[in-house]
Amino acid sequence: MIALQAHAKVNLSLRIGEKRADGYHGIDTVIARLQLADRIELESCLSGISLECSDTSIPCDEKNLAWQAAELFFKNTGISAGVRLRIEKKIPAEGGLAGGSSDAASVLRGMNELFDKPLGSEKLMGMAAVLGSDVPFFMQEHTARCRGRGELVESLPDLKIQASVLLVFPPFGVPTPWAFSAWDAGGRKGVDEEQKVDGVVLFNDLERPVFKKYIVLAILKEWLIRRHEVQAALMSGSGSTVFAILNPGVDTDGLQRELQAEFGETFSTVCSGFAE
Ligand code: C5P
Repeated sequence: MIALQAHAKVNLSLRIGEKRADGYHGIDTVIARLQLADRIELESCLSGISLECSDTSIPCDEKNLAWQAAELFFKNTGISAGVRLRIEKKIPAEGGLAGGSSDAASVLRGMNELFDKPLGSEKLMGMAAVLGSDVPFFMQEHTARCRGRGELVESLPDLKIQASVLLVFPPFGVPTPWAFSAWDAGGRKGVDEEQKVDGVVLFNDLERPVFKKYIVLAILKEWLIRRHEVQAALMSGSGSTVFAILNPGVDTDGLQRELQAEFGETFSTVCSGFAE
C-alpha cells in the first residue's frame, strides 16, 4: 500500500485566448500548489478497480477522474492486476482548486510507483493530458506556467510566495464548461484590475463572466481586498473559491469570524499556505 498527498492549486493568473477547433480555449496561466491536499491510498489487488471516498457526494465509479486514471494506467501498461483506491477529500468539488485533477495525477504517479515504474515521465504526461487540462500540472511539484489548453507545463521553481492564504468556499460550485461558455458569450469585455504580490501579477479573465452571474463572488473579493489583513484576493480558475493572500502575522481567526458574520456560515474558510 502507498499513500500520497494530492495538493490543491490556485491560479495566480489566468488569461483566456481563442476557442480552438477542438472546443477548448488556449490559455496562459500561472498555477501554484497549496498545502491543502486530499490523501490517497493505493493498494494493488488481483483484478478490478475499486474506489472509496470520504465525501459521499462524489461518484466512486468510472465517472470519477481518479478511477479513469487507474483504468488508463492498466490500458497503457497492459499490466494484469487491480487496484483499490481510497480518497480522503479535503478539497471541495467544483471549487476551481482542481481537486479531481490532482487526485487523478496522484493515481497515475502512485500506480507507476506501485507497479515498479513501467512508464517514463513523457508517457505519463501524455496520459495526464488525456484525462484533463489541469492534470499535467500536477505531474510536477513546482509553481508552473501552463499553456496550450493547460498541458504545456513549464516549471517555475524560483517563483515562490511566502504567505498564508485564506480560502473561502461559497456554498455553491461553478461548472468549468459553463464559465468558459459565458466567456465566449461576451464575458470578455472590459479590463480587469491587476494586483501584485512579491512581484507576481495576479488576475483572472474568468472573474468577469463568473461575477456577472454569481454577484456575491464579486462582493466577496472586494470585501477581502479592503481588509487590512489581505494583500490581494482573486477567484481561482473558474471559481467558486476566492482566495486571499494574507499579510504576515495577521489574526486569521478574527478575519474568518468576521467573514462569516458578513456572508453567513455557509461560506466556509480554510487557512492554508503555498506548498513550496
Ligand atoms: O479539460 P477539462 O475536462 O478539465 O475541461 C473541462 C471543460 O472546461 C472543457 O470541457 C471545456 O469546456 C473547458 N475548458 C476550455 N479550455 C481549456 C480548459 C477547459 O474550454 N483550456
